[in-house]
Parts: sequence; structure tokens; C-alpha cells
Amino acid sequence: MIATKTDPRWVGVALERFDEVLVDHAHCEKKAAATAMALVASYPERERLVRRMSALAIEELRHFRAVHQLMRARGIVLTRDEGDAYVKALLQCMGHAAETRMIDRLLVSGVIEARSHERLGLLADALDDPELAAFYANLSRVEAGHADLFVKLALHYGKPDETRARLAEWVKLEAEILAELPIRPRIH
Ligand SMILES: [Fe+2]
Ligand SMILES: [Fe+2]
Repeated sequence: MIATKTDPRWVGVALERFDEVLVDHAHCEKKAAATAMALVASYPERERLVRRMSALAIEELRHFRAVHQLMRARGIVLTRDEGDAYVKALLQCMGHAAETRMIDRLLVSGVIEARSHERLGLLADALDDPELAAFYANLSRVEAGHADLFVKLALHYGKPDETRARLAEWVKLEAEILAELPIRPRIH
């Protein structure tokens, strides 16, 4: 679901400054849970969305706790969220028409999950510690499922052809935005 592969230099930066990646990763999981609940808050009458997103929020919060626990075991303290230029740039491309906004919100989340899946997988392949590698391999697999979930929900509520076309636009935009950003010790 993503058009480009991560720059190979990213893995080296991420491993070298893994403590910073962990802090960012914890924030990503926290924001994933918050985003799922924000969708519930915005579209309470959409029954399928409420069921899927409330389940997702619980799962993402579990991920947050798992990453936070990992940090604590390493003596790393969670610091303030410095914001995410990648997500911010994506959200700026979102339309405001109520009609398409929900579909856009779902598709953007799907694309972000797909990128997270890729990057967590890259970490899993590169980490020396087998336990840590297994932890990241599992999370990577789960995030791929989340990407699918968001796209399926968007297709459920939107017109299939329009939704697929819009997804293709988001995939293109995501690749452009990522290419403009510096390589940093962060998930995105
Ligand atoms: Fe997650
Ligand atoms: Fe996720």
C-alpha cells in the first residue's frame, strides 16, 4: 500500500539512536489509540466503524504499554511528544468536505499504518537482540492488518471506485512527503 521503500540509511540511524526511536514509537502507539477514538467521537452513528475503532484503540493502547514497559526496562523515560512532521504534512492534504473527510481520515490512517508496518519490519530484521526482534516482527505484522482494516472500512463507507482512486492519491502523496523529510531516529 506504500509506493516507495524506506531509504536504507534509515535503519542505521534508527539502530544507532534506538532509545529515541523507542520514545517516538511509544508516542505513535499512543496517537494511534487516540486517532481510533477520535473517529468514534466524530462518527458515533457508524456502527461498524465504532466497533472496529474501539477494538483498535484497545489494541494500540496495549502496544503503547508494551513499548513503554520496554523503555522502563532500559531506564528510558517517556518525554513530551515533539509532534510528527510526517503525519502533520499528510493531514494538511486532507479535504474539508464532510462527505469525503471520513473516507480521507480512514485512508490516511491506512497509509500511515502501512508505513509503520514497513519500518517496524525493517527494525525486526536489523535488531540483534532476538527478543526485541521478535517483538518488532509481531508488531509489524499487526500493523499490516491495521492498514487493511482502515482501507476496508473506507471501501465499506465510500464508493469503491472513488475510494480506490483517493487511496492511490494518498499513496502518492505519502511517498512525496516522506522523500522531503530528513532521515531521523523516529518511526516516520
Ligand atoms: Fe500499534
Ligand atoms: Fe496500528
